[in-house]
Amino acid sequence: MDKLKKLIERREHIENAGGKEKIEKQHRSGKLTARERINYLLDENSFVEIDRFVKHRCTNFGMDYLDLPDEGVITGYGTIDERIVYVFAQDFTVMGGSLGEMHARKICKIMDLAIKNGAPVIGLNDSGGARIQEGIEALSGYGNIFYRNARASGAVPQIAAIMGPCAGGAVYSPALMDFIFMVDKRSQMFITGPQVVKSVTGEYVSPETLGGALIHNEKSGVAHFIAGDDKECLDKIKKLLSYLPSNNLDRAPQADKTDDLNRLCTELNLIIPESSNRPYEMKDIIKSIADYHDFFEVQEHYAKNIIIGFARIGGYSVGVVANQPKVLAGCIDINASDKAARFIRTCDAFNIPIITFVDVPGFLPGTAQEHGGIIRHGAKMLYAYCEATVPKVTVIVRKAYGGAYLAMCSRELGADMVFAWPSAEIAVMGPEGAAVIIFKKEISKAENPEEKKREMMEKYREEFASPYQGAERGYVDDVIIPAETRKHIIISLMMLETKREKNLPKKHGNIPM
Ligand code: HXC
Repeated sequence: MDKLKKLIERREHIENAGGKEKIEKQHRSGKLTARERINYLLDENSFVEIDRFVKHRCTNFGMDYLDLPDEGVITGYGTIDERIVYVFAQDFTVMGGSLGEMHARKICKIMDLAIKNGAPVIGLNDSGGARIQEGIEALSGYGNIFYRNARASGAVPQIAAIMGPCAGGAVYSPALMDFIFMVDKRSQMFITGPQVVKSVTGEYVSPETLGGALIHNEKSGVAHFIAGDDKECLDKIKKLLSYLPSNNLDRAPQADKTDDLNRLCTELNLIIPESSNRPYEMKDIIKSIADYHDFFEVQEHYAKNIIIGFARIGGYSVGVVANQPKVLAGCIDINASDKAARFIRTCDAFNIPIITFVDVPGFLPGTAQEHGGIIRHGAKMLYAYCEATVPKVTVIVRKAYGGAYLAMCSRELGADMVFAWPSAEIAVMGPEGAAVIIFKKEISKAENPEEKKREMMEKYREEFASPYQGAERGYVDDVIIPAETRKHIIISLMMLETKREKNLPKKHGNIPM
């Protein structure tokens, strides 16, 4: 009985984390504790803790007297929607969640189990980075985690939530994972914090301006999701997981229940404006086609000229890539290329079919883009689509011009099925640019060159800027009634269920970076 009592006392002490005061501080700042986060994330009573008794071995700076419950990180496994996931949650109430040798070992053990057993890893990060007192042991700890992040990449989904101020190594491990969630106003990510910035460069910057959730969701593109509070963040992680398989050898999960397979989307027959220069909301098309009109957008606030995200269509989990005519007319620029390329590779790694909706006037022209390396960045998108062997279905809804036509999963880049709406305009360039080149003489000789230009533009539009030339040559498989798009996509996904395409055997490709 004595031994049992001792065990219970030890456990209670560990569960008390950094103590009442620190826990209250954590709550006052609007954050849940590490244990509360895990319990909220996982199915009720499913959490199995591992390594709760692990202790640090550091003796520097008086650390030998320091008792750090759970070594500042709670690790284990449990289920979400009855599927196994491995979790670690850094505990800010214990020495700021800082990472030392044994803290890192706990995380590595969880990652090794996840890789071996083919299940997702979820990291709930709330850490001041490498534990300064532990010196190289702490750095080595991060190195071991990075190594496992890279090994797990493409094998099991890796999801990071940033739920407090995260610095140094605490941001590189999430950056090596597949998705990053941030909590608005309560989490920050930076390589070096504001104090270091001030001492090195003299610049004063607040933590929020340096690396807040908005900055990383809107500006840097480092994060993929933003949530209002901890609970919303954890809910979103659960939703994301519902689209992903447990590992690269599994099929993406299929919904038990699906929206009507024969549902027509009649609103799509009228969605494209008469004038081809007028914008419209591409997300309305995606939502109209998706099961229960549900679209889970990824990187919603970054490079808004391209839309990426997950949906279910006919119960199939799919990744959607689409141009957004409301932003930069849907042109592809550097950031949009990076955003789409990464997403395409994520879908391909995890056997999720890709549906591409095209309305793109071209790559964004100009010195800023050229000097910024649009060639290198745009090439990532081409590469990613070519390399992807998952089912790929493309729907050209309006413009598909030039290199951007190719970049948006054209037949040549390996699309399995290409559909076009009657409003599609597939050509080397838009009527404005094309008419002044190929009808240059007629326009310059005309009495009213402006009127002639308009006339020739119309002629060009009628002859070339349509889906029919593409359909006549078989680049487009069918010109479809927009209302029937959902049906065509579902039938294509059924037909492609047995797709078995493999890339050439090689060590790995050399994607432009
Ligand atoms: C040891 C740390 C720590 C760290 C925080 N603490 N960070 N202890 N090593 N890296 C401790 C604090 O001493 C404090 O202990 C407790 O955690 C809470 O920290 P506070 O500073 O009181 O909290 P707050 O004011 O909210 O500020 C949080 C913070 C700040 C912004 C994270 O603590 C900070 O700037 N920490 C250092 C960040 C950093 O530069 N890390 C180095 C990373 S280098 P007490 O006992 O008072 O409660 C790195 C190298 C790896 O990671 C690189 C790999 C590529």
